[in-house]
Amino acid sequence: FMKRRKKWSHYPPGPVSLPFIGTMLYINFHNPHFSFNQLHKKFGNIFSLQNCWTNLVVLNGYKTVKEALVHKSEDFADRPYFPVYEHLGYGNKCEGIVVARYGHIWKELRKFTLSTLRNFGMGKKSLEERVTEEAGFLCSAVNSEEGRPFDLRFLVNNAVCNVICIIIYGERFNYGDETFKKLLHLFENSMNEEAGFLPQLLNVVPILLHIPGVPQKAFRGQKAFMDFIDVLIDKHMETWNPAYIRDFTDAFLKEMEKGKEAEESGFNYNNLRLVTADLFAAGSETTSTTLRWALLYMLLHPEIQSKVQAEIDKVIGRERSPTMKDQVSMPYTNAVIHEVQRYGDIVPIGLPHMTYRDTELQGFFIPKGTTIITNLSSVLKDETVWEKPNEFYPEHFLDANGQFVKPEAFLPFSAGRRACLAEQLARMELFIFFTTLLQKFTFVLPEDQPRPREDGHFALTSSPHPYQVRAVPR
Ligand code: HEM
Repeated sequence: FMKRRKKWSHYPPGPVSLPFIGTMLYINFHNPHFSFNQLHKKFGNIFSLQNCWTNLVVLNGYKTVKEALVHKSEDFADRPYFPVYEHLGYGNKCEGIVVARYGHIWKELRKFTLSTLRNFGMGKKSLEERVTEEAGFLCSAVNSEEGRPFDLRFLVNNAVCNVICIIIYGERFNYGDETFKKLLHLFENSMNEEAGFLPQLLNVVPILLHIPGVPQKAFRGQKAFMDFIDVLIDKHMETWNPAYIRDFTDAFLKEMEKGKEAEESGFNYNNLRLVTADLFAAGSETTSTTLRWALLYMLLHPEIQSKVQAEIDKVIGRERSPTMKDQVSMPYTNAVIHEVQRYGDIVPIGLPHMTYRDTELQGFFIPKGTTIITNLSSVLKDETVWEKPNEFYPEHFLDANGQFVKPEAFLPFSAGRRACLAEQLARMELFIFFTTLLQKFTFVLPEDQPRPREDGHFALTSSPHPYQVRAVPR
């Protein structure tokens, strides 16, 4: 293993690699960004690690991450292969989008998904109208708590997952619906299976996946989630009419009808399952976690909550529903939402990339096929860029005249070819859900409750520890 790393000159430095396990002991897989931040201090902006046989390079700080993802976008556009997903149908020509290798099929599926999201509604209600409607359902559910202490997590999750359901299946579920509850439960279990040491080990030593019972035991939740998605897709297909496209699933099925060429471009049944799962995985936890951080920071900073509410009252009033057009007239609210994303640091280590060819970064040689970790946390808290990197400070996004500004180092959605494909949708959900909730309620910490923790729980995303809140109608 030592030999493997040493054969390249100008390869990034890193901690000493041990036989077999490489440098895995240096990483706390339940809080990898903390380990990376320590190694960053010791080895600089670009350092190397080794997970058993796999070479990893970790990129830190705004300048380095931007140079790789934006200036050398194609060199860093690939993703590593993930054997742990094979039991879900992931494999040749069936890789979904999020963990797809860089190439023709990924490009086609990404283009298709972007344009389907853009054209959403297809003559019916726009996506914005559907999000606004969902915000109304969310407020009714919050209202029914009647000011008692409760954990917002379930309701916020329901609302955000419903947006994905509307996109994929054209319909939402009532929050009490048993099918919906099961879907969310299975999804949560499947996300938790992604965290920790075992999935990392199985990815780099995939032979372990052939031990009878290992994948079934390690990824029981993911399999159950995929089985459930199969049922939903099959049910949807029963009512499919090619002349009338209702939603993402219909649009995908229509592409599949186009024959062999479309099949070659990835439009097959297995990819429909995987892309659907991708939209759930990438689009629900991220957005609902951000909203939960937003409300937690409002509890902890009541003076900031009051300023947001004053702006809502001035620009929108108490009755009319917020719309995206309001955003330009609401610099403070916009700054608060951006600061939630920066300080909340929701996807601290991004998603793994892989070098598509041999490349060079700030004088270091990085060979083709190296796994790249973009430490987004080190960008969002880069001390050379942000005035108060470790404080919740909405003024990071306001100029001297109180106008909204977005510093370039604001990269919670990453950057370059693999950047989040639904940033616009996510921005819309965050703005509409957050402003609607604060228009209708003031969120306060229940008496006798300890001050909620500000550190996150890491399972691909970093989410707040459970906390109780009281929503007082305004
Ligand atoms: C990828 C952040 C919401 C779909 C990503 C990545 C990040 C991210 C950091 C990895 C980019 C990279 O590899 O460099 C976020 C945040 C969100 C959010 C912070 C909400 C606040 C959404 C939503 C959807 C979505 C709502 C879809 C409904 C995707 C997809 C990818 C992705 C499909 C993979 C892109 C690719 O590999 O080509 N997102 N995301 N995301 N996101 Fe998001």
